[in-house]
Amino acid sequence: MPESRCLQGIWSSPWIFIFAAAGSAIGLGNIWKFPYMLGANGGGAFLLIYCLCLVVVGLPMLMAEVALGRTVRSNPVDTVNDLAERHVVPKYWVAVPYLAGVTGLLILTFYSVIAGWAFAYSRRAVTGALENLDKVQSEALFQDFLQAPVEMIFWHTLFMVMVVLVVGQAVTRGLSSVVKLLLPALIFLLLLLAGYALVVGASSEAISFLLRFDWDQVTFEVALSAIGHALFSLGVGLGAMFSYGAYMSKRMSIAKACTIVVGLDLLVSILSALIIFPLTFAFGIDVDSGPSLPFVTLPIIFDLLPAGQVIGLVFFALLALAALTSAIALMELFVSWLHERFYVGRLKASFIIGLVIWFCGIAIVLSFSHWDAKIAFGLNLFELVDNVTSLIMLPVAAIALSVLVAWVVPEPMLKNEMIAKNPSHFRWWYTTLKYVSIPAAVLITVAGWIGV
Ligand code: PHE
Repeated sequence: MPESRCLQGIWSSPWIFIFAAAGSAIGLGNIWKFPYMLGANGGGAFLLIYCLCLVVVGLPMLMAEVALGRTVRSNPVDTVNDLAERHVVPKYWVAVPYLAGVTGLLILTFYSVIAGWAFAYSRRAVTGALENLDKVQSEALFQDFLQAPVEMIFWHTLFMVMVVLVVGQAVTRGLSSVVKLLLPALIFLLLLLAGYALVVGASSEAISFLLRFDWDQVTFEVALSAIGHALFSLGVGLGAMFSYGAYMSKRMSIAKACTIVVGLDLLVSILSALIIFPLTFAFGIDVDSGPSLPFVTLPIIFDLLPAGQVIGLVFFALLALAALTSAIALMELFVSWLHERFYVGRLKASFIIGLVIWFCGIAIVLSFSHWDAKIAFGLNLFELVDNVTSLIMLPVAAIALSVLVAWVVPEPMLKNEMIAKNPSHFRWWYTTLKYVSIPAAVLITVAGWIGV
């Protein structure tokens, strides 16, 4: 590989890879999306299927992405190109990293808007707008906010500027130090809030909702939502982990690192659910209220807590930061590709891509207020982009990347990469990926689409 196309740094310690990968995994998907998906899909059954998807499909696919990234140490597009040039894989596989990259950018168009909500709510905590809210007022506050596109565009713009500036630097530099502080702080705060919500809220109802297993709810559609969200939450299938694998030290065990990342990701999701549901039941908020659920529920707990507005401010600010460390991963693929392939400066590359995303994000903002026309399948633009990315593009990209690793890339190439620490890990992982993860993902995805 020519020197100029090599990536810029190796993570200085194994833990830094874990922090960075967890930073990309943990974000709005855990705190905003996971609770409302649970609510919309009936609780316990979704939770169980989700956990299975995470372990049986998500973990092996995550390892596949990291392993291939570390083997070739380049961005996904150039990696597959290099493999095709060396006749290791057929040329048409080059389409897969492009699909992954486009999916990431599409996700970022709405991800940035929702991250802007977190900013807007931190500001509301400062101005005292979240004080003394009951359920009706909290819902009204959120509805008013949705009808204020100028404010939403402002926060979306701020968020995109931050993403562009951070991605414009080499990812290894800025990211790890931020996540090292951010993650423990976020987990600590979530633990505190979950403990408090369980004490003041309707904890037994919440727990029985989360553990209630109802066979009626076990359908392929629910399983597809679960698998789509597992991939979204881990950040698998978009080539992002691929890029992080490329920066990973050879001394690190991929299996161990990825298992820790999956565990942290699940922990944050479960804690979020333990905060939201005791309150939704205690205050009679509709569990099926969709994307508004966390933003309506959370201000209520901050109002109940002593010094709640300060905690609210810190919480929403941390949420926005967690979203930032995920958004970086969503943009990294094309930025590193433009930089390494065409020698475009990183800042310039991220500015160009950021501008396109910012522009599309404005259409997403308007879909919450002035332009809520149902574009297709009875969905508005936000819902359409969310559904198409997580139920179609993300599973397809993740399955395709995994097939590439499991069935197309020659086994010895991967074996050399994985074997260093523990040979049994390789066998276990390779067999699971080939014969369990990929077939299960294909079955669930296709059956979910045709609505079996
Ligand atoms: N995993 C992130 C979240 O849960 C979103 C994301 C998806 C980030 C894909 C990177 C790649 O919020």
